[in-house]
Amino acid sequence: MNIKLQSTACGDVETVVIPVFEDRDLSYVCEDISSIIENFKNKGQFKGGFGETFFFTKERGDILKQIVLLGLGKQGELTSDKIRIAYSKALKKVNELKASAVAVKFFKVDSVCTKRTLKGIVEGLTLANYKFDKFKSDRKEATLKDIVIAGIAEEDMKKAEMALEEANVLVDGTLIARDLVNEPANFMYPETLAKEVEKLGKDSGFQVEVFDENKINELGMKAFMEVAKGSENPPRFIVMRYFGDEDNKNNILGLVGKGLTYDSGGYSIKPTDGMVTMKSDMGGAAAVIGAMSAIAKMKIKANVVAVVAACENLISGNAYKPGDIISSMGGKTIEVLNTDAEGRLTLVDAVHYVIEKEKASKVIDVATLTGAVVMALGRTATGVVTNNHEFYGELQKASDISGEKVWELPAFDEYKELIKSDIADLKNIGGRFGGTITAGLFIGEFVQDKPWLHLDIAGTAWEDKDNNYLTKGGTGVGVRTLYYLVKKSVKGCCNK
Ligand code: BES
Ligand code: MG
Ligand code: ZN
Repeated sequence: MNIKLQSTACGDVETVVIPVFEDRDLSYVCEDISSIIENFKNKGQFKGGFGETFFFTKERGDILKQIVLLGLGKQGELTSDKIRIAYSKALKKVNELKASAVAVKFFKVDSVCTKRTLKGIVEGLTLANYKFDKFKSDRKEATLKDIVIAGIAEEDMKKAEMALEEANVLVDGTLIARDLVNEPANFMYPETLAKEVEKLGKDSGFQVEVFDENKINELGMKAFMEVAKGSENPPRFIVMRYFGDEDNKNNILGLVGKGLTYDSGGYSIKPTDGMVTMKSDMGGAAAVIGAMSAIAKMKIKANVVAVVAACENLISGNAYKPGDIISSMGGKTIEVLNTDAEGRLTLVDAVHYVIEKEKASKVIDVATLTGAVVMALGRTATGVVTNNHEFYGELQKASDISGEKVWELPAFDEYKELIKSDIADLKNIGGRFGGTITAGLFIGEFVQDKPWLHLDIAGTAWEDKDNNYLTKGGTGVGVRTLYYLVKKSVKGCCNK
């Protein structure tokens, strides 16, 4: 998609999107069109309510203008996420019209700053335009090729250009994550995932190192290897390094993404229904990879090391079994009571590695970890477990900007009791209740004294059907939030 900014009006582009508020006059649109809109409003055909769209045509000179009115509701109630949602609806309308170019009239409101308004428009339009159709023989190229954002005041142009650059990078990062998740597991397995990351590192400007099974064994990642050993496809441990703040070498954020390129459940096998979407069990890996790409491309002043323990959870004569007692890189022993609680076993070695070997001073792990989080929070919010409330506050701020909702779950000591084993240090499940919390706290046992956030994205990483700017399949959740968390820790960002 080619996006251009201009200070002049929509010009001769045939298809135009005009934002309309319920409670604002139409002085910002040309007179001939504003009177038509006024007329629709008076007749009650179109109110400008949030998310409403309305289509009409108007002859102007030789061209027949196709005009899409986009309701933005009440000015004071608009947020940047509502802008994304509204423009994803506009995109659907524009695609129905099969337009190859669209002019979008820019607007300003008091409740959202200029940069965020522009980013909201760009993200809403482009994230909604994604489709995973590479395997369809009759796939068609997207009709919409050019977007012009028109009517930006000259004095806002510099800001708008900066915002556009950032929005493009963030959308690319998010679509990288969606593509990685949507790629089926017969194509996307640990070795191919590692190759993709090597390519991305070169394109985006971060360093990549990949460990094979020998090196993984040598490092003593015993818990990770127990999960990996049931598959013919060998595991890969992927390390991504970006040092943008050389003066603060001791301040390193460790990102850890769950990288199960497929999760059958192992001997605690899943029913088919639960298994068909399990190519998405590397959604956490996709989030940290997409975020690294955006952080590096924007040359953010921060140090970040991201790691992914990539493997498949399958059944074979060599697979681990319920009842096994295994060890881990950190030295703690674990009683395996369910082989489907595999993610946490791979994550604890990755967390231990990033602290011990990469000297991470703070850690965030991102994982499609539990079905229980979908029961607790639905598909609306990511569940969070933490040992540090200040750090959680930073996440909340980043989430306000990205629109990706997060919700903290309690981490009382009583829950920690549930993962103690009688015959090993820990057990890998904590019983029927509070499953998201016990899973998170299991990982927390390996973070030492580091500030840590655990993001359970099992509910938010996947959509069964298109949902505004989130499209069917992988959502790319986490990319934009992690980016803002890293960016904001460096310099202030406007809070509207
Ligand atoms: N990958 C799954 C979690 C999951 C479920 C992700 C649904 C996306 C959608 C994870 O490995 C798993 O199987 N968790 C088990 C844990 C249980 C055995 C304690 C679960 O949630 O059922
Ligand atoms: Mg599982
Ligand atoms: Zn899993």
